[in-house]
Amino acid sequence: MSMNTRILDAEKEYDIKEAGEILRRGGLVAIPTETVYGLAGNALDPSVSAQIYKVKGRPSDNPLIVHITEMEELQPLVEEIPEAAIRLAETFWPGPLTIILKKSDMVPKETTGGLSTVAVRMPAHPAARAVIRAAGVPLAAPSANLSGLPSPSAFEHICDDLNGRVEAIMNGGDCAVGLESTVITLVTPVPRVLRPGGVSVEQLRAVLGQVDVDPAVLIKPEENARVSSPGMKYKHYAPKAEITIVDASLEEYAAFVNAQTDAVALCFEGEETDLHCPAVTFGKAYDALSQAHALFSALHKLDAIGAKTVYARMPRKAGVGLAVYNRLIRAAAFRVIVPAGVPVVGLTGQTGAGKSTVSATLAAYGCAVIDCDQVTRDPDLYKPCMEELQKAFGRDIMNPDGTLNRRLLANRAFADKEATETLNRITHPVIFDRLRAEIRQRAESGARCVVLDAPTLFEAGADRLCRRIVSVLAKADVRLSRIMQRDGITQEEAQRRMRAQHDDAFYADRSDFVLDNTDFIPESAITELLAALGL
Ligand code: TXA
Ligand code: MG
Repeated sequence: MSMNTRILDAEKEYDIKEAGEILRRGGLVAIPTETVYGLAGNALDPSVSAQIYKVKGRPSDNPLIVHITEMEELQPLVEEIPEAAIRLAETFWPGPLTIILKKSDMVPKETTGGLSTVAVRMPAHPAARAVIRAAGVPLAAPSANLSGLPSPSAFEHICDDLNGRVEAIMNGGDCAVGLESTVITLVTPVPRVLRPGGVSVEQLRAVLGQVDVDPAVLIKPEENARVSSPGMKYKHYAPKAEITIVDASLEEYAAFVNAQTDAVALCFEGEETDLHCPAVTFGKAYDALSQAHALFSALHKLDAIGAKTVYARMPRKAGVGLAVYNRLIRAAAFRVIVPAGVPVVGLTGQTGAGKSTVSATLAAYGCAVIDCDQVTRDPDLYKPCMEELQKAFGRDIMNPDGTLNRRLLANRAFADKEATETLNRITHPVIFDRLRAEIRQRAESGARCVVLDAPTLFEAGADRLCRRIVSVLAKADVRLSRIMQRDGITQEEAQRRMRAQHDDAFYADRSDFVLDNTDFIPESAITELLAALGL
């Protein structure tokens, strides 16, 4: 099946026309979309669909997605357009969402893998849209990888796989999202996400209300089990390397990986400094979009450097993170290692949100709580770095009795950013040593879990010690009155303190669980939290 594959340019009008012509006469063209590259062909021609399966090496019961550019193109493809589909299309099309509906007779069974439903997507990428228009027909386009391999999110990824197998490959550079579209079916009584992607479950719920997530998104489907989306039963996204996810804090992860020989780390940006082995990164720790964008490129890079044994960081499952997790767990063939030892849970949140209620509850369930404020207030803590502190901030920051004049130090250290950084550089090592010792001691005395109660968990960098992070948030007016009452301060003073705090999104991006304590935390949220923490 070797042919002369032409390289087309997504920016050139002539090349778009050329792609349209190839597609119209029944040929295949790999095209860029905002999610991943697609292997496109005429969706209405059964022999073209058969050709797509053949080129991809894909089992022919795994249905293809049909791509359109205008809402009018949807009606002929489906039996009916339910109200929910219109609302989804209005909100998310064009974009990374695929909607499954009952198909019309116009769509051949070959395209839908024998199913009576059809998956439809309206891509946002200008070149993808222009090619569909030039072809004049809806385009079936699975991800342009050979079956079982990571999807191509950059032009370089497809050339190896498809050169000689398709008539043309269109170069459109990197794909913005980097992971395939979210697939939702509206054929079930409750809308159900079959594959998480660039549109998050939370976003879908905001539009539709109740939305289920298919169990196969998170857990390994049983052998031969009936799955709602045929794609979920096949081996997926597997690079040549053997990947294992390490479900651990950054420090636990680094200790584990550094103890291995010949391992390659698949970690977040900036974490390489903790590691003694080669590392490939996939985005930033608290930015799921950046992880989605980088994941498939990282998997391709692991193969390019010949990695054999890879240990990956565990992505957070919230928002688009669910899609990142879904792809990575498959690339890892569901291998996950949890380090031995008691898990550390970081507990943080906005001032006045009522963090102490949660820490008391966790304590009642057998967790040992370390109050980080109390730890850092210990006058003896700073003795090992007193000399250095005095050099940086003046001799008089030490009281005659050898203890620290905290107020004077705070005045000087918080005067500007540079001074604060100096303070952190000097004090963090001693604070972290103490925290590690405290954690060890609690673990040895039989705690099921150690909670690090820290209002400035992230700012201090103590999140690197935590396997899970829980944030407690509450509406601003409620926090305001709580702070005024608790600390006996004026409204202005309380507002000033609140202004220095991060917003909800800051915590949501960085936490495994967010508890809303505006009124009270419902029993069910606590039960869920305890179950997720294994308590
Ligand atoms: O972002 C994307 O969706 C990319 C770009 C090229 O548009 N396409 C893509 O297609 O990822 P593909 O074929 O690699 O994945 C389609 C997924 C498969 O898991 C398939 O099983 C599922 O969608 N699917 C398609 N039609 C379906 C149907 N009628 N019912 C259930 N699942 C369906
Ligand atoms: Mg695919």
